[in-house]
Amino acid sequence: MQFRPLGRTLESIPILGLGTWGIGGEMGPDSSRDEIGIKALRLGLDLEMKFIDTAEMYGAGHSEEVVARALAGRRDRVFVASKVSPRHFAYDDVLAAAKRSLKRLGMKQMDLYQLHWPNPSIPISQTMRAMEKLVNDGLTRHVGVSNFSVEQMREAQQSLSHEKIVSNQVEFSLIDRSVERGILQYCQKEGLTLIAYSPLGQGKIPRGRGSSFKVLDEIAEKLGKSRNQVALNWVIQHDSVVAIPKAADTDHVKENAEVAAWKLDRDDYQKLAKEFS
Ligand SMILES: NC(=O)c1ccc[n+]([C@@H]2O[C@H](COP(=O)([O-])OP(=O)(O)OC[C@H]3O[C@@H](n4cnc5c(N)ncnc54)[C@H](OP(=O)(O)O)[C@@H]3O)[C@@H](O)[C@H]2O)c1
Repeated sequence: MQFRPLGRTLESIPILGLGTWGIGGEMGPDSSRDEIGIKALRLGLDLEMKFIDTAEMYGAGHSEEVVARALAGRRDRVFVASKVSPRHFAYDDVLAAAKRSLKRLGMKQMDLYQLHWPNPSIPISQTMRAMEKLVNDGLTRHVGVSNFSVEQMREAQQSLSHEKIVSNQVEFSLIDRSVERGILQYCQKEGLTLIAYSPLGQGKIPRGRGSSFKVLDEIAEKLGKSRNQVALNWVIQHDSVVAIPKAADTDHVKENAEVAAWKLDRDDYQKLAKEFS
């Protein structure tokens, strides 16, 4: 596994983590595939993808419970991140939501707690004050945001008295490169880790057709890799970027874990950047 620094801390996190959207349900809880999800997450941990991303929203909390089961007896050295939903951004609600998440995760402390989406109807200063209290009280080690613009990252940072936001989790793949219009550069300059979600375009990359995908397939064939592996490798070539492909399926987890063992060369990277621009 390769690692990248977490924000400006002295810590590093795996360049590839385990996304849990759909594990334990989507908008509501669904236990029917829990055992499959647990097996996939455990395989990911065995393959050194020791970074799990979940959220109170996933499966209405059940995803965190499944993560807890996958982690039973193996919490050591696994970086666990969760997220608070925007409707819980009022001060007391943030504190209560974090405690509920920790209970479902079966942990006393998370590694990273993220604001899931911006919520313009609650002052960010109030939310960040609560996030700072969670760090002071030892309920999370780090504070992050998700789906924040450059301006929102700036404002959120300015609302903190001493903590530094370590990460922004945003969509980034060959087919969604909007972060390249400022968010990526800001993260690189200001020392935030960009956690790339939907790095396979929520399944649109595995299924994609057309001339750009033909080039992707040609490069994949030349390298003896799959199309998904090349697309994922392209994402993690960017400084400050780690990626969290969905980890609900053992074959997918295995395919993705291998991506950390090699590197696209400059020509292939540029060719793909041009084709998918
Ligand atoms: N912060 C946010 O707002 C936010 C938003 C979206 C996602 N996320 C996080 O990012 C993670 C990944 O994003 P995502 O789930 O939207 O999309 P993704 O990882 O880009 O793509 C997942 C889709 O691709 C399919 N797939 C095919 N080959 C795959 C492979 N090798 N590895 C993984 N999936 C493969 C999956 O099928 P199967 O379903 O059969 O596995 C699924 O349909 C989520 O699980 C979640 O943790 C965060």
